[in-house]
Amino acid sequence: MNRNSILREINERRSLRALSGEKIPRDVINTVIKAATLAPSCFNKQPWRFIAADDSTTLGKVFSALAEGNYWAKKSPAVIAVLTEISLGCTLSDRRDYALFDTGLAVMNLMIQAESMDLIAHPMAGFNPLKIKEIFKISDAYIVIALIAIARKGEDQGQLNEQHRELETSPRERKPIDEILFYNRWISA
Ligand SMILES: Cc1cc2nc3c(=O)[nH]c(=O)nc-3n(C[C@H](O)[C@H](O)[C@H](O)COP(=O)(O)O)c2cc1C
Repeated sequence: MNRNSILREINERRSLRALSGEKIPRDVINTVIKAATLAPSCFNKQPWRFIAADDSTTLGKVFSALAEGNYWAKKSPAVIAVLTEISLGCTLSDRRDYALFDTGLAVMNLMIQAESMDLIAHPMAGFNPLKIKEIFKISDAYIVIALIAIARKGEDQGQLNEQHRELETSPRERKPIDEILFYNRWISA
């Protein structure tokens, strides 16, 4: 693949875990969220919603909802909860509920913007969504899709377990293109 044909930010974005606890100003958070909101969405419904936790009390509550394996995220100076509700997006035939898709597009914009600002934006599914709903009093109709740890890169990898320390610098693993791209035919796995 010609690496030059891919934007630097897409190439270099990594889900790193060695975080700095340095505070992230709100204008920085607002900038990554602004990028998220510029994503396309079905009928321009913009079904994404975000809650940014950046004070120590709220962060402490959010950290308590993390899965054990996400211990490293407890250093984050900010965590963004990503949520949506199916009826906020297009709901078309054959299970095409676009709220999750559109919200994913928005999060990718957020992550590319973050990378361009030398920030880590590490998405996580490893958390207890019911706990997050309880903390923020989010109604059950919503889906808390992900938490995103937002931080500057940390120098200290000493707090990471061995597997996570290796992942910080290991090459990215991706499926070969013939497993995921089919020209003029479909082969089901
Ligand atoms: C929806 C989603 C959930 C994820 N959940 C976690 C998580 O709970 N903990 C974690 O350490 N990484 C999590 N990741 C990060 C992935 O492990 C990572 O994106 C993948 O290994 C590819 O690495 P890269 O992002 O550095 O290219 C998640 C990523 C996505 C998109």
